[in-house]
Amino acid sequence: MIKNIGIIGAGTMGSGIAQVAATAGCKVHVYDTNKTVLQDARSKLSKILARLVEKGRIGPAKKEEIEQNITYVSDLKDLAESDLVIEAIVENLTVKQKLFKELEQLVSKETILGTNTSSLSIASIASALKHPERCIGIHFFNPAPLMKLVEVIPAVQTSSTVTTRAVQTIEDWGKVVAVAKDTPGFIVNRVARPFYGEALRIYEEGFASFAQIDDAMKRLGGFRMGPFELMDFIGNDVNYVVTETVFTSFYFDPRYKPSFTQKRMAEAGYFGRKSGKGYYDYDENGSKVIS
Ligand code: NAI
Repeated sequence: MIKNIGIIGAGTMGSGIAQVAATAGCKVHVYDTNKTVLQDARSKLSKILARLVEKGRIGPAKKEEIEQNITYVSDLKDLAESDLVIEAIVENLTVKQKLFKELEQLVSKETILGTNTSSLSIASIASALKHPERCIGIHFFNPAPLMKLVEVIPAVQTSSTVTTRAVQTIEDWGKVVAVAKDTPGFIVNRVARPFYGEALRIYEEGFASFAQIDDAMKRLGGFRMGPFELMDFIGNDVNYVVTETVFTSFYFDPRYKPSFTQKRMAEAGYFGRKSGKGYYDYDENGSKVIS
């Protein structure tokens, strides 16, 4: 049974995945190198759960249980007892490989090492390990507690037992699993590239403002968020890196060419909701400021 979960990275995705696992009754240790992020994750979760109690979706006892199931830690060694670790740190292969190498020395040989990467090759992350057969992609969508779909991506090295156990665990957490091949962007992020890319091109060519494009896609296209709202929601830093990785991984196929507008947003620190500024401005609760 997979009961002890380690989450690495307490940002947008790590904090959401921790909530999912804790709600399913697992004991979760969340590790981040940034102590402020850990504190923020704890207080944000408390607010989210309080809202769920107010709306009658969960009772106060469940709120307490979920909170008690999560321990926020600033030492990687505290994840040593994990049956499954899911990494959700910065989208950078070298940084992820270094972390996985360090992690493998701390955990038992049975521990499954999952990565929430959006676009990097699982095979290359796994290659950093002495036992690459224990590594697998477990790709949640944002916001993890609400989005039903999770892509599970075995690398060429991953054992079938690890894949079966990962799929079973994620289904036990109430999610719907799509087992995807280890190709750049997997399924959803690859299909999503032209959604952002074409919207950015229309904006850069001066045919419409980003607000007009968002409005059209919502009212006419039936999308819940327009492409610019969605990029702000995901994080322009994260989304830019994903586009760049998909572009280079497909041998510079022009279909995936990244946009300078998006690059400059990431460079300027205009990450979107999480930084208070992106294509739109946001207040401290992450709500769009209407000017
Ligand atoms: P984020 O920027 O919100 O959080 C990343 C966290 O990792 C930060 O709190 C940072 O302090 C921490 N961190 C960085 N290096 C670390 C290290 N070496 N050890 C421990 N902690 C470290 O990023 P986000 O959006 O949560 O993305 C994380 C991963 O999830 C990325 O691989 C991303 O591609 C993927 N992802 C992101 C989605 C999104 O919509 N934002 C959706 C699905 C996957």
